[in-house]
Amino acid sequence: MSAPFAGRAALVTGAASGIGRATAALLAARGAMVLGTDLKAAEGLFPHDVTQEAQWEAAVAECVRRFGRLDILVHCAGTAQSGPIAELSLETFRAQAQVHVEAAFVGARLAVAQMRAQGRPARGAIVFVGSIAGLKPVMQTTAYGTAKAALIHLARTLGVELGRKGDLVRVNAVCPGGTRTPMTEAAFPPEYWDDPANFAHLPLKAFCTPEDIAEAIAFLASEEAEFVTAQALVVDGGWLVGSRP
Ligand SMILES: NC(=O)c1ccc[n+]([C@@H]2O[C@H](COP(=O)([O-])OP(=O)(O)OC[C@H]3O[C@@H](n4cnc5c(N)ncnc54)[C@H](O)[C@@H]3O)[C@@H](O)[C@H]2O)c1
Repeated sequence: MSAPFAGRAALVTGAASGIGRATAALLAARGAMVLGTDLKAAEGLFPHDVTQEAQWEAAVAECVRRFGRLDILVHCAGTAQSGPIAELSLETFRAQAQVHVEAAFVGARLAVAQMRAQGRPARGAIVFVGSIAGLKPVMQTTAYGTAKAALIHLARTLGVELGRKGDLVRVNAVCPGGTRTPMTEAAFPPEYWDDPANFAHLPLKAFCTPEDIAEAIAFLASEEAEFVTAQALVVDGGWLVGSRP
């Protein structure tokens, strides 16, 4: 098997489950040295609550201790919120901003500092996991969608900044549509997944798999994407553009 990421070190948050787990596995299979982190304890993962700055510092330090460097940061950890605004507390709104946006900001700042310490121009790739809900209003995802919109904007803004001033750090977001993971499995009954009618409105007639999203993340982290920065790559089976109104 080819190893396009050989010699490169990646930190992947949310690696205990779903998209993060698939991404950590794919990058490792392609030769990367991967530090997977998660709030949830799981074998081989570094304990890391992404809402805590000190724990980000510890995670980046652990990556450097193990591998001597950090070349790729994937911020995938997150939780979803749904419900009408009348039932949406300020606490929940803030929690969504913390886990998606503040965490990405803290992680990117630390990653860039480490990439700069490894040499100038700094080289590296940062990928945030956004969402379709950050590109188009999705009913009852006020806090989640707003946080994802800000996260996508953060990727674009940092992508522009870090391609200048002697840095070559690329920053992009992947925006999944509905993806079958523990997050969405918790939202629908088991029989939901076996009924094609539930996916008939999607041009590709199915939810994405975590592996579909991991492939897009790996592309953005790879040298094949060396001229791609400040982008939001949609991976949604055509839902955003092609679903019936
Ligand atoms: N599944 C979908 O349909 C979908 C669609 C669009 C975007 N996303 C995004 O993809 C990302 C991954 O979601 P998933 O579907 O794989 O969900 P998931 O629930 O399977 O995995 C999320 C992981 O993040 C971890 N996590 C949550 N809060 C954390 C914190 N504070 N610190 C560290 N880890 C934390 C969880 O423990 C879990 O392991 C999320 O950012 C989610 O918003 C998912």
